[in-house]
Amino acid sequence: MTVTQNSSTEVEKKEDLVTITIDGVEVSVPKGTLVIRAAELIGIDIPRFCDHPLLDPVGACRQCMVEIPDMGNGRGFPKPQASCTITVMPGMKVETQQTSARAEKAQKGVMELLLINHPLDCPICDKGGECPLQNQSLSHGAGESRYDGVKRIYPKPINLSAQVLLDRERCVLCARCTRFSEQIAGDPFIKLVERGALQQVGIYERQPLESYWSGNVIQICPVGALTSADYRFRARPFDLVSVPSVAEHDSSGSAIRVDYRRGTVMRRLAGDDPEVNEEWISDKDRFAFRYGRGEDRLTTPLVRDGDVLRPASWPEAIDAAVEGLRKAGNSVGVLTGGRLPVEDAYGYSKFARAVLGTNDIDFRARPYGSNGNGAEEADFLAAAVAGTGRGVTFSDLENASAVLMAGFEPEDEGGIVFLRLRKAFRKTGLKSFQLAAYLSDGAAKMGATLVPTVPGDEANVLAELPAGIELDEKSVIIVGERLALVPGALTAALELSGRTGARLAWIPRRAGERGAVEAGCLPNLLPYGRPLADPSARVDVAAVWGTGSLPSEPGRDAEEILIAASGGQLEALVVGGVQPSDFRDPSIVRVGLENAGFVVSLEARASEVTERADVVLPVALLEERSGSFINWEGRERPFPVVIKKPNAMSDLRVLAALADGLGTDLGVRTTEQARAELAELGAWEGERAAAPQAAAGNPESVDGSNAVLSTWRLHLDDARVLEGEATLIRTARRAVARLSARTAAGAAITDQVVVSTDRGAVTFEAEIVDDMVDGVIWLPTRAISDRGPGGLAVSEHLAVSSGELVRIEGVVRIEGAQA
Ligand code: SF4
Ligand code: FES
Repeated sequence: MTVTQNSSTEVEKKEDLVTITIDGVEVSVPKGTLVIRAAELIGIDIPRFCDHPLLDPVGACRQCMVEIPDMGNGRGFPKPQASCTITVMPGMKVETQQTSARAEKAQKGVMELLLINHPLDCPICDKGGECPLQNQSLSHGAGESRYDGVKRIYPKPINLSAQVLLDRERCVLCARCTRFSEQIAGDPFIKLVERGALQQVGIYERQPLESYWSGNVIQICPVGALTSADYRFRARPFDLVSVPSVAEHDSSGSAIRVDYRRGTVMRRLAGDDPEVNEEWISDKDRFAFRYGRGEDRLTTPLVRDGDVLRPASWPEAIDAAVEGLRKAGNSVGVLTGGRLPVEDAYGYSKFARAVLGTNDIDFRARPYGSNGNGAEEADFLAAAVAGTGRGVTFSDLENASAVLMAGFEPEDEGGIVFLRLRKAFRKTGLKSFQLAAYLSDGAAKMGATLVPTVPGDEANVLAELPAGIELDEKSVIIVGERLALVPGALTAALELSGRTGARLAWIPRRAGERGAVEAGCLPNLLPYGRPLADPSARVDVAAVWGTGSLPSEPGRDAEEILIAASGGQLEALVVGGVQPSDFRDPSIVRVGLENAGFVVSLEARASEVTERADVVLPVALLEERSGSFINWEGRERPFPVVIKKPNAMSDLRVLAALADGLGTDLGVRTTEQARAELAELGAWEGERAAAPQAAAGNPESVDGSNAVLSTWRLHLDDARVLEGEATLIRTARRAVARLSARTAAGAAITDQVVVSTDRGAVTFEAEIVDDMVDGVIWLPTRAISDRGPGGLAVSEHLAVSSGELVRIEGVVRIEGAQA
């Protein structure tokens, strides 16, 4: 049989192409392509500064001059033109510096002008060695300057933010930085101010700089005018060894480049991955990499001796852990946290089932269900996320007909997701909707429409969307991890997807959560979506693992594990990267750890868990091990070892050693072995777990003295990974409580509000938000505080999370009292 191509599509495609001639070479490119981009396609490098493929053309630097003797209509431009602002026309003829003496002369002239005021400080400039101006002045500039006047001098550097410094005399006014802040991040950040020779980059005087993306301007500045406060003068590009890697601070799986020198990471840059993060990363991904360098780094195993933990050798510590775990038998709970690479998460999943013989395993170290009931989320993850492979992608978001967000703040909780949605809004006018108590900053910057929703009422709103929200097969429903807190909301989101055909994307906050779901770090789930309750799924996994059978009894979730440990129903705990303050009520974790008969902690840094552990087994930092994250799309994001340390122990290697001691071979001890075994397991082809069928709850009702809490974690907050990042922390957003004018008036709140529960109280500055739903108060979950770690943490002071009631009252100022 002969298969014929659809000829009409072929014709359409050809009609979209425009053929032009550049330096005598014919090239066909899509309509609308810029001349500079068409030249790139045939390997002709036109010098440029302001041009950037992800920013709108501006023609600011005039470096990319070419001659255009024929526009395609027989007439040409009388003078050289900027090739970065002119689009191709059929039959156009272009002559670059390679074939036109006029184009070459124009480029050399512009370069000479740009260099008139540019200082000759390349030997001490951070950009020296990787500077487009330095490189292009050598490749395309004149050998000597004719200028013998005095160069323009400014006081330097000035702070654009705590993190970004500006040396104004180095600036070539390309407007890359200002366009980035305006077009990509949407932050009122920097602008070109003044005119003529005095033109310079300046900051807004009355707008505080609060951008999570400011570091990108340092990277795209084509000269050394913008530098990083933390990296300035610390290293030269030619001293550094670069390794491509993946960022660990959100679930986007952004490509990064890690530069290290003599065993220490010096900086991180955005990698170039058009399908994921394009060329951008958040400031957290760029600047927060020093965690684990402090005194709290664990370098040797510790074994409890009475009240103290004493250093021990690895064999001694492994023996001690094995002895405790052997005594506990299968009465052990396993908490893995949501930050692990998938290979390590898989190690925990297999260790729990095949070695310990328990299904008491959960990765969730966050609020995940009211009153400790996490079953709806676990069922949702089993039915709609685990083993579904690559689902909605970043490009699907960009091309969606509409996006509905529930339990999700795009910028604080989504990282690169926010940039992609904002891009779609700017380029195609993407319609988006946010179910929330007020339109969040990130949602506002992507032009979203607020669907006013009291936290706790999401299930009802999803069941009956207000008029004007049209969803179809090209739409996406983004479900954030906070939706798990609302009874029936995940059920309603699935039903809405089924009803409208809209696709569903679960976007957790942490990098390791999707991988943990795929690895089966849940009480109801085996790897790649195999339902624990299905005997054939258990047989399938047992066959690959080479074990006789797997435990079939449904396991406990994280809070249930801790409560069982407190009550003596569980004898031991194995704990990965978990912190008590990450839970809705940290005291459950603390009491669980305190009362558990035996605790084994696998950690890189001393923590509240290691303090209470019986055996502490130090594991490697991410930069010292290889692995993969699975990002929210379901895309594998492998990363190599950056800093090679002899005997660096991944969680997987430690678990394999424990398994050996317990007399069962884990079968995997390296990243490669875990990857191979996961590939062998492959996708589950049997019946998927049933979707949850939880009833919708109703929001709490309020009187004037209380309010329903809305809260989420800000992108930069009181996180352990930010400890010691003094400069980065100074760019965090101000900690305020947000509420409506009516709610504030009802509780006599003016400038400060005391928020309390039976557990305690915390005071915030109050901010009135116009579109806030009455009867709701929004608090940052873990705001940075000068009172130290946890000083403003909702979990520590109030032990509640979104959707629960809190008392509110204004701070009464006594006349004459000091503030
Ligand atoms: S500071 Fe850098 S990126 Fe900004 S306008 Fe000047 S040269 Fe361009
Ligand atoms: S690169 Fe074309 S004008 Fe700047």
